[in-house]
Amino acid sequence: MATWSIIYSIVLLLPTACQNQAHHLRIPMCLNVKIAITCYIPVEALVVWLYWSSLLIGAVGQITHPVEVTALQAIKNSLIDPNQNLRSLSPELGRFSYMKILDVMWNKISGSIPKEIGNMISLELLLLNGNQLTGPLPEEIGYLPNLDRIQIDQNQISGPIPKSFVNLTKTKHFHMNNNSISGQIPPELSTLPNLVHMLLDNNNLSGYLPPELAKMPKLLILQLDNNHFDDGSTIPASYGDMSHLLKLSLRNCNLQGPIPDLSTIPKLGYIDLSSNQLNGSIPPNKLSEYITTIDLSNNNLTGTIPVNFSRLPRLQRLSLANNSLNGSVPSTIWQNRILNKTESTFLGVAEQ
Ligand SMILES: *[C@@H]1O[C@H](CO)[C@@H](O)[C@H](O)[C@H]1NC(C)=O
Ligand SMILES: *[C@@H]1O[C@H](CO)[C@@H](O)[C@H](O)[C@H]1NC(C)=O
Ligand SMILES: *[C@@H]1O[C@H](CO)[C@@H](O)[C@H](O)[C@H]1NC(C)=O
Ligand SMILES: *[C@@H]1O[C@H](CO)[C@@H](O)[C@H](O)[C@H]1NC(C)=O
Ligand SMILES: *[C@@H]1O[C@H](CO)[C@@H](O)[C@H](O)[C@H]1NC(C)=O
Ligand SMILES: *[C@@H]1O[C@H](CO)[C@@H](O)[C@H](O)[C@H]1NC(C)=O
Ligand SMILES: *[C@@H]1O[C@H](CO)[C@@H](O)[C@H](O)[C@H]1NC(C)=O
Ligand SMILES: *[C@@H]1O[C@H](CO)[C@@H](O)[C@H](O)[C@H]1NC(C)=O
Ligand SMILES: *[C@@H]1O[C@H](CO)[C@@H](O)[C@H](O)[C@H]1NC(C)=O
Repeated sequence: MATWSIIYSIVLLLPTACQNQAHHLRIPMCLNVKIAITCYIPVEALVVWLYWSSLLIGAVGQITHPVEVTALQAIKNSLIDPNQNLRSLSPELGRFSYMKILDVMWNKISGSIPKEIGNMISLELLLLNGNQLTGPLPEEIGYLPNLDRIQIDQNQISGPIPKSFVNLTKTKHFHMNNNSISGQIPPELSTLPNLVHMLLDNNNLSGYLPPELAKMPKLLILQLDNNHFDDGSTIPASYGDMSHLLKLSLRNCNLQGPIPDLSTIPKLGYIDLSSNQLNGSIPPNKLSEYITTIDLSNNNLTGTIPVNFSRLPRLQRLSLANNSLNGSVPSTIWQNRILNKTESTFLGVAEQ
């Protein structure tokens, strides 16, 4: 249980010019649960810290708009149960139309995400990860025009990714891993111009892998491990055209068919396609010189290890175990070392 420090401090660095709207709601890790309200003006001049345990609404009223004071009070009541644990996200959050950061990560907040969050139209960072949130993602989140980052990983959120997320044109980060998000990845998300991280691993996604995702202009990381796509799903050949990709991780996704040629992705550093039912032979073309990790283990691959797997200067981990590969391990596969029997066994390749 959280211990409640009785602290109440207001730091006014600049008494003028602030719009008096709460811009930043932050509840850090449980031990010292507090909400900090930060109001930024261009030179970050005014900082107001309110420690919930002793929230003095009267004093706050002098600097915070009355509507927001009422909303803060309601949020406080919804957040704190008789055991002084955080409880849920209040619909009153919708009143904070100037707030830019909602940060309640690593608490024990349960319940669902209120659709009123869609009214927080200034919101840039939605940081809800590491809680016990359930229920679906409200489609209203997709109407937040300034959202830079959605961090909802490590909750128990279920239901599909709302189609409205195609309107999140400023969003760079989807961190939604470790939930129970289900259904098809909307192919329309491929129009998101600024998305760099798409982390949807450890969910309950089904359907197919949209070939359109290859069109995302800035995507660096695509991580979908531990989902169960429909039988017969394959890795689209177009994924070899993801020009900025650094990491492709599709471990244990029930994928079949061939491995696409990823050799034209200039800075690809990490490939994990393990524990699927991929078949055919490993594409022979030379991968990026930045590659550090290639894990193709636990598939149904046949043929030989490409000679181009030698002379990959940064390669640290290569796992090809549990396939049906044959032929010899290229002796130059590790730049300056000759493979010994242990390493060959690890590769899952019979020595000749
Ligand atoms: C995206 O926004 C446009 C314009 O506001 C709207 O017409 C459209 O319905 C939205 N798309 C989705 C899928 O919500
Ligand atoms: C996400 O879920 C996977 C599978 O249950 C687990 O191995 C992993 O540790 C989880 N990740 C985090 C950051 O908790
Ligand atoms: C996963 O999604 C399927 C529908 O695709 C649903 O029937 C099942 O209950 C979901 N499982 C979990 C753990 O959410
Ligand atoms: C791969 O498996 C599919 C069935 O899943 C089969 O139709 C195809 O012929 C196989 N390809 C190779 C190269 O073995
Ligand atoms: C190695 O890769 C290069 C460049 O992708 C390609 O031209 C060449 O054919 C490959 N070598 C073999 C033996 O496949
Ligand atoms: C992959 O190999 C396993 C074991 O060899 C076999 O049971 C399974 O049918 C194969 N799957 C495909 C899609 O070929
Ligand atoms: C290696 O695999 C290929 C294709 O699967 C097969 O044609 C060939 O006979 C195999 N060679 C050996 C030595 O097993
Ligand atoms: C290969 O498969 C066996 C049996 O399923 C498993 O115990 C082992 O961990 C697998 N090896 C790798 C490297 O995944
Ligand atoms: C083989 O290489 C592994 C990893 O570098 C090393 O731990 C092991 O001692 C080596 N075995 C022999 C017989 O040289």
